Amino acid sequence: MMDSPLKRTLLETVIASTPTKKAKQDVGPVAQPFFWSNYNIEQILGEGSEGKVYGVVEKATSKRYAIKRFAPRIQLLSDPLVEISILSELSEKCPSLVRFYGSIFVTDPFVAGSAPTLGYKMEWVDGDTMQEQISAGKRPSKAEFQSVLRQLAEQLACVHEQGIVHRDIKPSNIVLARDGTAKLIDFGIGCTVPSIERSAIPQCDDAVIGTVKYFAPELFKTTFRALKGRRINLPTPTSDIWALGASLYAWLTGQLVNVSSFEKRNLERITDIQSDSSVPLIIRQMIDIDPASRPKAIELIT
Ligand SMILES: Nc1ncnc2c1ncn2[C@@H]1O[C@H](COP(=O)(O)OP(=O)(O)O)[C@@H](O)[C@H]1O
Ligand SMILES: [Mg+2]
Repeated sequence: MMDSPLKRTLLETVIASTPTKKAKQDVGPVAQPFFWSNYNIEQILGEGSEGKVYGVVEKATSKRYAIKRFAPRIQLLSDPLVEISILSELSEKCPSLVRFYGSIFVTDPFVAGSAPTLGYKMEWVDGDTMQEQISAGKRPSKAEFQSVLRQLAEQLACVHEQGIVHRDIKPSNIVLARDGTAKLIDFGIGCTVPSIERSAIPQCDDAVIGTVKYFAPELFKTTFRALKGRRINLPTPTSDIWALGASLYAWLTGQLVNVSSFEKRNLERITDIQSDSSVPLIIRQMIDIDPASRPKAIELIT
């Protein structure tokens, strides 16, 4: 996979654009045998099948960064080059998104002599994920809720403006910093809407990937229709809006919207939520069964 012409081209592009010493992005995608010696590792921020995220302090500058190191390619479900490519592009175009500071090949800092794998350096959003807050039973105040909704909507509006669908919005992919900043992370399975062509980023297709608990109901239809060879519903900006609404609902109430299939009882549950006036109207609109009725990200901030 790594040797396909597309990926080689991307890698070459990334390498060709490796900043010079003067540039801000001080880490290029070349193997850096002494990479970790420049940093103190403060925390392991995340650990999953795809890799690990380290919270580090750069010794020379005392600046804090997050370093994501992917697992060896053979273990990966997603393509790290897609994630790097999307984040590097979006970080430039969307100033409110997590800052990207360059891709790297790097060893496992805790395994001597381990083979370097791909990774990248980004802004460390110092706080908890929304999922950690949900699991700890921590609910937002009204002001906090509104501020987080606005920040995430602004980021998502910019992502969608670039023709990119995140496809995996969920509470563990939202980091809430102690200073009130909220950031959408993890573009590992992002895709572009069909009208947009970008060499390094796949177009959204009928592959049913993402996190089932936050799937918009129309995506369940996709599975069944695709199995029968019928017309399918692709992930779109509107399915991202559903996922954001369902994440915010979980944060506010500690409950899942739970449409883990297109079954009637689940649809009834959505109807119940929609008639519950204690749930903010904006959330109820975001989890409208009809994708066309959901607000666009840009409308959530205007
Ligand atoms: N920039 C960041 N700042 C703070 N924590 C982060 C950052 N990026 C990732 N994390 C933490 O690491 C976890 C895994 O990162 P993520 O990019 O979602 O990887 P995965 O592909 O394994 O889901 C997140 O859920 C979050 O806890
Ligand atoms: Mg994630």
